[in-house]
Amino acid sequence: MAARQDNPAPARGNSRAARAPAAPPCAMVIFGAAGDLTKRLVVPALYNLVSAQRLPAGFQLVGVDRAAKTAEQWQKDLGDAMQGFAAKGGGEFNADHIDARAWQWLTSRMTYLQGDLTNPDIYERIGQHLAGLEKSAGTGGNHLFYLAVADRFFGPVVAALGAAGLVTETDDKWRRVVIEKPFGHDLASAKALNAAILKTLDERQIYRMDHFLGKETVQNIMALRFANGLFEPLWNRQHIDHVQITAAETVGVEHRGRFYEITGAMRDMVPNHIFQLLAMTAMEPPISFDADAVRDKKAEVIEAIRPVTPQRTLRDAVRGQYDAGTVLGQPVRAYRQEPDVAPGSTTETFIAWRLQIDNWRWAGVPFYLRTGKYLKQRWTEIAIRFHQAPFTLFRGTNVERMNPNWMILRIQPDEGIALEFAAKRPGPTVTLDNVRMDFGYKSYFDMAPNTGYETLLYDCMMGDATLFQRADNIEAGWAAVQPILDAWANRPPGEFPNYAAGSSGPAAADELLARDGRAWRLLD
Ligand code: BG6
Repeated sequence: MAARQDNPAPARGNSRAARAPAAPPCAMVIFGAAGDLTKRLVVPALYNLVSAQRLPAGFQLVGVDRAAKTAEQWQKDLGDAMQGFAAKGGGEFNADHIDARAWQWLTSRMTYLQGDLTNPDIYERIGQHLAGLEKSAGTGGNHLFYLAVADRFFGPVVAALGAAGLVTETDDKWRRVVIEKPFGHDLASAKALNAAILKTLDERQIYRMDHFLGKETVQNIMALRFANGLFEPLWNRQHIDHVQITAAETVGVEHRGRFYEITGAMRDMVPNHIFQLLAMTAMEPPISFDADAVRDKKAEVIEAIRPVTPQRTLRDAVRGQYDAGTVLGQPVRAYRQEPDVAPGSTTETFIAWRLQIDNWRWAGVPFYLRTGKYLKQRWTEIAIRFHQAPFTLFRGTNVERMNPNWMILRIQPDEGIALEFAAKRPGPTVTLDNVRMDFGYKSYFDMAPNTGYETLLYDCMMGDATLFQRADNIEAGWAAVQPILDAWANRPPGEFPNYAAGSSGPAAADELLARDGRAWRLLD
């Protein structure tokens, strides 16, 4: 990409970023501008997009929030937070310093409006402000509204945007709305929310965000499967014994007790993030990378999840809640002792689920999912276990103890892909050993700091909805988990808490696989 004079820092060795054109001129309006999401993810991602030269000269960022601030205070608060993330290292931002010119480029385009989202007055002021920016800053009249607010505001804000005429498109001006998670609390509320926003917006204007789709390694699953003649022929029931999808976290519920109490691990992680991993792994090849072609295939595979009866729920789904324990060397308290959590809470902080996909490719191949808070390691991976070879040749060797072939797609941390297979140990006797071939993203590619939101924000500005959820994708996800939520709601969990913080989860999760003669991959 030709360097733009007005966009200071060079792309950081990331060839995709270097080649990608800058987004078209636009104004992005963030509702919830003083909130945590804006500070932790959205603004750091925009800053990274500036550094990668992917924002246009005619870009403007308008913060909207109830908090009384001036634009200068807003910029300063965000700047301080970014400096703090850089100084601390790690975390989502993952940059070691802030480039003053890139930050200045962004702050010079940031304005702030204080207002109450439930009052029509703020929408009128936003309209006037955006009209002014179109003239003075060359935004082209293209507007992206980002809803970084509590989910109860999603419907009302969209309706108010519609009433104020702010989302009406013309031939040369687009209007888009990004909606964060949680999208609904169950199937009925997700359907109601879709119906409500579709009264105001066309499906093509809606970008339902699932931040897992911003992770490079999640996007890479499609490249791995569909750009390699080597793997796709093996990707079916003839060759795959089972699949394990793990999203293990070392964080607890932290300050989110109020939200988590009514949410729990199933709602928080499964119909959205884990199903994205499942869909990418199990979907049929789309006919193109066109947004609808991909989303059709993803919806199909989630719809093919075998419906769960209440009896099967008790057999195939396990829930857990953490007790006090030690996580990464630090003592931590039990979930029931966390702030805003009821002392007798029955909310699950862990789930494991054995599911079947009823289609031609996957008939008879179990998919085991697990996710939980305060586990032993932060570890997100998709592990594909291939069938055992007929070992007749190696009778009399140590073959019985061999691990079978695995392909591991590591999503985080330490993103990469590994193959585990058997090899002969050097020496006069036939002794087999397990070996591992490992591709690490960081050692192979020069990766620019990435919060995971950069691609998603850029795609919204470019009008590419491939990595966003369509209404039917969301509803298919909820429909698949709803029977489990219902069965659990009707039957309180037995013994809670049932796993120590810092462990690998409840014993029942191990039994789920042991019943099938299988075991989870170890979390270390
Ligand atoms: C969020 C959930 O959507 O995803 C959190 O609400 C969870 O509870 C988080 O911790 C996990 O995302 P990541 O990117 O940290 O793996």
